[in-house]
Amino acid sequence: MSRLTDLLAKAKAKDSLLGNDLEREFKLLSSRLPFGLNFERHSPEAVELPLRPVRKGDKVRMLPERGSVKKSDQRLWQVKAIHKARQIADLELLDTAEPETQSVLLADLIVVAEFRDTIYPGLVSTGKVTRGGDKPFHTVINGENYHVLKALTYTHRGKVDAIYIDPPYNSGAKDWKYNNDYVEDDDLYRHSKWLAMMERRLVVAKELLNPADSVLIVTIDEKEYLRLGLLLEQIFSEAKIQMVSSVINPFGVARAGQFARVDEYIFIVNFGQSVPAQTPIQTLQVGDSMQVDNDGALADKDKADESLEADKTTYWFSFMRAGSNSSRSHSPGCFYPIFVSKDGVIKSIGQPLPKGESKENVKTPEGTYAAWPVNEAGGEAVWQASHENAKQLLSSGYMRSGRFNKKLGRHSITYLREGTVEAIANGFLTIDNGQINRVVEQTRTYVGKSTWNIRSHNATSQGTKLLGRILPRRKFPYPKSLYAVEDALRFFVAQKPNAIILDFFSGSGTTAHAVMRLNRQDGGRRQCISVTNNEVAADEQKALREQGLRPGDAEWEKHGICDYITKPRVAAAITGKTPAGEPIKGDYKFTDEFPMADGFEENAEFFTLTYEAKNAVNHNLAYERIAPLLWLRAGAQGHRIDKLPLEGWAVAGTYGLLTEVDQVTPFIHAVSAANGLRIAYIVTDDDRRFQAISKRLPDGVEPVRLYESYLSNFSFANGE
Ligand SMILES: C[S@@+](CC[C@H](N)C(=O)[O-])C[C@H]1O[C@@H](n2cnc3c(N)ncnc32)[C@H](O)[C@@H]1O
Repeated sequence: MSRLTDLLAKAKAKDSLLGNDLEREFKLLSSRLPFGLNFERHSPEAVELPLRPVRKGDKVRMLPERGSVKKSDQRLWQVKAIHKARQIADLELLDTAEPETQSVLLADLIVVAEFRDTIYPGLVSTGKVTRGGDKPFHTVINGENYHVLKALTYTHRGKVDAIYIDPPYNSGAKDWKYNNDYVEDDDLYRHSKWLAMMERRLVVAKELLNPADSVLIVTIDEKEYLRLGLLLEQIFSEAKIQMVSSVINPFGVARAGQFARVDEYIFIVNFGQSVPAQTPIQTLQVGDSMQVDNDGALADKDKADESLEADKTTYWFSFMRAGSNSSRSHSPGCFYPIFVSKDGVIKSIGQPLPKGESKENVKTPEGTYAAWPVNEAGGEAVWQASHENAKQLLSSGYMRSGRFNKKLGRHSITYLREGTVEAIANGFLTIDNGQINRVVEQTRTYVGKSTWNIRSHNATSQGTKLLGRILPRRKFPYPKSLYAVEDALRFFVAQKPNAIILDFFSGSGTTAHAVMRLNRQDGGRRQCISVTNNEVAADEQKALREQGLRPGDAEWEKHGICDYITKPRVAAAITGKTPAGEPIKGDYKFTDEFPMADGFEENAEFFTLTYEAKNAVNHNLAYERIAPLLWLRAGAQGHRIDKLPLEGWAVAGTYGLLTEVDQVTPFIHAVSAANGLRIAYIVTDDDRRFQAISKRLPDGVEPVRLYESYLSNFSFANGE
């Protein structure tokens, strides 16, 4: 080391700029761990804020010319002056040895926040849906998750019960941006950028989790699971960490020169006493998974041939194959007679008919008639299984005949699919005279295993296709299976009906939707905070740029994930209606089955994160921006105090606000009379006064001090 230090000193003497740069890098290197995950932190990270008006002192970038699809100029400038009349800003180039200045139209600039900058966050409500009475609100926040997490350290420090995240997998295929630039396959720093991005957020997320009992669930695939595992070990050294393999596409996704990929991984990070609960859920799914069609699509009741035969839980499916590959010529071995008595009892199974032979030549045992797989148009089709399998199904009681179909001139034939049979064999379902029953939940619990091969976790059928029903014609890449998220969370929040769940890479809002389903199953009042940015997908960005649009234009922002997908999905799930107002088609399946059009009795409010000016002069506006944060901290329930009260105090459902300390007496009376009040916010810069008022509050009400300059209560410096 001393040799290096000597060389550095020499370098500094020769060229101080170069010497200082070398020294900084040297310090960074020498501070690295001798073992474990070592990577470049790539600081500072920066984010563009398209909706934020440009102010003096801001850091900005120049937007590309309208219509251009070229990569935009990434240099950072500082705003030195603004000429309002001409709508022009004077800029000075940052991070350069050669000073450069320019004057640029305000409309051609975009504000940039570096993560080392102090920020003054606020929230603006952009709408809500209320169907849940006095239940707490789920919230969806449109914003850069790093900054939202920082803001949540004020509202939810140590209060979060579960975090579920599905971060960008770093596929190299434009699935995420670092400093406004897609991280592509050939980027030499691809992995360290991803790790730096994840580390920054996970470190803040740690402050939000309840150290005594909470869980962090992170999904990932083969591209980053090794690095993520090490990162989690390093950040959460006190936690118990386990990795689960989860089959999300049983048919496999091709990987050039490799095995086709059927699964991904889920890291479960348990804090304090958190352990996965024994659950009856997987039990149920084994049986329920039969309600997924062979091709993985959601099984519509109306899709099942002879569906009237199916009992109300649709365990019994038509034995006649439909759709492609269903003609006799495709599977001659599946064209055979089933002999049924006149009163509808299956007596025996006949032999398959050799190719070309007419069914009229087959002899029918006495007292029976032959049921053939023939469709209503008279076409020769096939049964679902070979004749050997059919015999076994029959002898086990897993095949039966039902209603007489006049058109077909025979009784319908139905059967139990493989998963249902498996569930019966495992004791998760029972069959009694053809009636399938679930084993009563409380009597049979299940210890989860580290491989989840559950059909309802299929990301195509229960993620992409399901989302397609909720938001017809809107595309979102790779949403999770709704039921996969529901099941993962259930292990940890089943016993916590008031749990707070956070997803800060929420994408299409699957986690919020899953939390609503959990609530419906047990009457819970769990709330989900979903955070996602308003990124426009890579291919869509190009199309919008070609139309002359740029970030910040209403038409551009409208297509962002949060505004176009997340908020409408959460709203549609609650109302049961698509954005066009149509009832959502199809039923929820598995654990809790009901029409999607029923929606949920839940509340949700949508917000956008704002970046306020440090010295906001307008007290009212500054307060309005922090009002949602006060409400969130008090439980996001009921009425919110959105404006500074003229009387000097106000009381809402779960909190009170005292802005004029000489109004303390009526305030204390109102607080004492209120039911369920948790927090009293007291606005004063005087420490002694705050203490004195706090003492007068009734038991169980937490006093929280607010400084008179509202925004300074929520400034977050990063110190990067
Ligand atoms: C893989 S998707 C999550 C999908 C989600 N689990 C679902 O089921 O729909 C990751 C999401 O995180 C968002 N995202 C990525 N980086 C972000 C950031 N820095 N701040 C906020 N959101 C971010 C992206 O917009 C993307 O929608």
